[in-house]
Formats: sequence, structure tokens, C-alpha cells
Amino acid sequence: MSGGLVTAAYIVAAILFICSLAGLSKHETSKQGNIFGMSGMAIALLATIFGPNTGNVAWILLAMVIGGAIGLRLAKKVEMTEMPELVAILHSFVGLAAVLVGFNSYIDHAPGLAPVMENIHLTEVFLGIFIGAVTFTGSLVAFGKLRGKISSSALMLPHRHKMNLAALVVSFLLMLWFVQTDSTGAQVFALLLMTLIALVFGWHLVASIGGADMPVVVSMLNSYSGWAAAAAGFMLSNDLLIVTGALVGSSGAILSYIMCKAMNRSFISVIAGGFGTDVSVGGESDEVGEHREITVEETAEMLKASSSVVITPGYGMAVAQAQYPVAEITEKLRARGIKVRFGIHPVAGRLPGHMNVLLAEAKVPYDVVLEMDEINDDFSDTDTVLVIGANDTVNPAALEDPRSPIAGMPVLEVWKAQNVIVFKRSMSTGYAGVQNPLFFKDNTQMLFGDAKASVEGILRAL
Ligand code: TAP
Repeated sequence: MSGGLVTAAYIVAAILFICSLAGLSKHETSKQGNIFGMSGMAIALLATIFGPNTGNVAWILLAMVIGGAIGLRLAKKVEMTEMPELVAILHSFVGLAAVLVGFNSYIDHAPGLAPVMENIHLTEVFLGIFIGAVTFTGSLVAFGKLRGKISSSALMLPHRHKMNLAALVVSFLLMLWFVQTDSTGAQVFALLLMTLIALVFGWHLVASIGGADMPVVVSMLNSYSGWAAAAAGFMLSNDLLIVTGALVGSSGAILSYIMCKAMNRSFISVIAGGFGTDVSVGGESDEVGEHREITVEETAEMLKASSSVVITPGYGMAVAQAQYPVAEITEKLRARGIKVRFGIHPVAGRLPGHMNVLLAEAKVPYDVVLEMDEINDDFSDTDTVLVIGANDTVNPAALEDPRSPIAGMPVLEVWKAQNVIVFKRSMSTGYAGVQNPLFFKDNTQMLFGDAKASVEGILRAL
């Protein structure tokens, strides 16, 4: 394939990636968005493999078959609730790839570059490895936290912000030295020392962020992985990798910003490893009163007597796979003339849009699925709220307790309704590890058990 054809293919692929992002921003066009993305990637791969700058095609194809087989197996096996973990581990691969490309580019670069170009090349190498290393360990910690292997609460080391700042300053000084020195030994030392610092910095940055802020961390690492890919693109002189990396980097940054706004968090504070969010977490998991329980039959009776019902799903609905009976209940109640709507918190579940995907899968009509801002004012006019496997996203402590780790996060104000039924298996806390005063309010009753079994029981009783 000639160089001109490769450039043309890259332009088409870049346009398809932009169309893909546009498609993915709406429910109705998301499937189309995926198709655009896959077509763009297929064109990009073919153009790169068969382009004039690529040798050893057989090795590349072999690596692709092995990598593709592992990817296919993982993607088929992964549960919807495990998607964020998969995304986090994939981000770590992008980071690791950028580190390896960086070292390779340093060792293997063409001699005889003009001094200015040489400096630019060395800066690219240094930054590429730095961003890649931060993304690598940061994503591994995010994976561990999402999988429950590492505590989801924030690591509060003394002087942690000073340590982060020191890591950045030392890395910057090492970069100046790396670019200016003529000694290869000094360059290798600076590169290795910076890599070590960046690995520890990435680990610490994500470890210092508390559970409730993990959604922002995942999208932030998505952004970092994009910038790491763009840096690799500069080192490999691959225009498409630069464009694609920049698209991923900037869309991830925009998503992180939107999420920070939705959760009332400072963007700078989250990307700086929780800077300015020092809060007390003492005694958060203690129970704060007496709770009341309700049965499946009583819940069915309460629903029959209601004229408006709001369902607020959360992570537990995804775990229990309760979306199908929930959709059936919705249909049954609507057939009785009861107004049923859904209230979706922006970070409910473990993925942006997690609840929307599950409800769409179960064919719940889009027009009864409302965002938190659209439904929050209506709770005071609602007879019954069914909180199905949600916890942090309906926790009044976010608004009432300034010392809480989730203080300031907007939540679904379900307690304003006449009756609230909470579907869960025990009195345990949600992802942020914070006890929920909602469970002890006078108008709240707990329906214990697996959410799917409870909803199916209600369905039978209806
Ligand atoms: P969570 O606060 O995670 O609470 C889920 C609740 O579901 C738990 O209290 C659990 O209680 C219950 N549950 C689990 N399995 C269940 C089952 N089979 N049947 C019934 N109940 C079950 O949920 P949420 O309100 O959706 O909040 C999401 C949290 O995750 C937030 O803190 C958010 O910041 C964080 N997070 C979100 C994302 C994104 S992007 N959405 C990413 C990472 C982290 P029991 O164990 O007692 O049953």
C-alpha cells in the first residue's frame, strides 16, 4: 500500500472515530456509533499493517491473533458489572504500551537528527514514558479497587499532596537534565529514575481517591490513556495514533469534567489525587437507629394503592440482574393506570450510563427514564419509591453531613416521597463505605433479599 493511500485511509478512519464519538453520545444512535468505531479501527489496522513503514507482518499478525483471542474470550466472559474493571485493566495496557514504545524509541531512534529535533524527540520520549507509567499503575490500583482487592476508601498518607508535588517537580527537573546532558549513562539514569517516580506517583494518585469518586477516576484514566497513546503516536510518527489518542484524551477529560460537575466535585481536586477533600470517616459504618422491614406482599399492596411510583435502581439491580422483572412490574403497574417513572443517578452502578443500558436491555421505554435533575423535584409528589439495589446514590448524608466522604454529592432525594421501600440483602453500606440514614427514616421500610427474587415475588403478588 502506498504512503498516499495510507494517509487517505487514516483520514477516513479519523472521521469515522469522530462520527463514532458523536453516535455514542445518544441512546438512539449508540449502536451506529459502535459500528463507526469498529469500521474506523479495521481501516486503521489494515492501513498500518500493509503500509510502507511496516515490516515483519507475519509477527504482527501472530501477535494480533493471540491478543485478539484473549480479548474475545475476556469480552465474552465478562459480566456487565465487571466492565469497569475490564476497562481499567485495558487502560493499564495502554499505559504499559506507551512506556515500552518510549524506551524502544529512545534506544532505537535514527541518529543524525538536528539538535532541535533531537530535543523534541527526547522530550516526547520522556513525557510519553511519564504519562504511560502514571496510567499503568493508576489503572492497576483502579482495577484493584473496583474488583474489591484493594480497599475502596481513600489512602490518607501524611503530607500526600506535598509528596505528589515533589514527584512532579523532581520529574520536571529530571526531564531538563535528560534533554540537556550528552552523557548516555546520565540519560538512562534520569529515564529510569523518572519511570520509578511516575509508577509510584500513579499508584498514589489513585489510591488517595475515595470510593465515591471512582467514576471520575475511571474516566480520568481513560483520558490519561488517550494522552499516553498520543505520545506514543508522536514517538512512532504515526498521525492516526496522535489523532486517536487526542480524541480519547480530550473526550475522557470532558467526561471527567461532566462527572465532577454532576457529583459536585472539583475537577482539579480529583485529578490531583483528592486534593482539598480531607474529610472525617470515623464511625461512618455504624448504624444510626432502628429500621423497619416490609414483606413482598405488603409491598405489592402498597404499589396497588399508589398513583405515582418512582424506581431508583443502583448497582444491586445490576448484580441481581433484576432489570427484566423490574420492566415487567413497570408494565403491569402502568396497565393499572399508575404513573411509573425511573430516576437515574449519573454514577449509579459502576459505569457511566450503567442503569440506562440495563433498562434499555429490558425494553423499558426511554420516556419514563429520567435523569436525577429531572426527577428530584417530583419526589414530594410521589406515593412510593422503590430503591432497587441503590445505596450511595440515595444517601441523605451527602446533603446533611458535611463531614461525610460523600458530602456535597447530589443524590436522589427519595426520602421526600410518602413511602420508600429499599431492596437489598442486609444493612451493609454501599460502595463508598458510608452508612445510609435513609434506612432509618420513618417513611422507609427495608425489603431484604436478592433484588431479583424480591421483584419477582412482587410481580406474582400483583
Ligand atoms: P452502591 O452504593 O454501590 O450500593 C449497592 C447496594 O446494592 C449495596 O448496598 C448492596 O447491599 C446492594 N446489593 C448488592 N447486590 C444485591 C442484590 N443481589 N440484591 C439486592 N441488593 C444488592 O450503589 P449505587 O447507589 O448504585 O452507587 C454507586 C456507587 O458506585 C457510588 O458510590 C459511585 O460513586 C460508585 N462508582 C460508580 C461508578 C460509575 S461510573 N457509575 C464507577 C465506580 C464506582 P447489600 O449487600 O446489603 O445487598
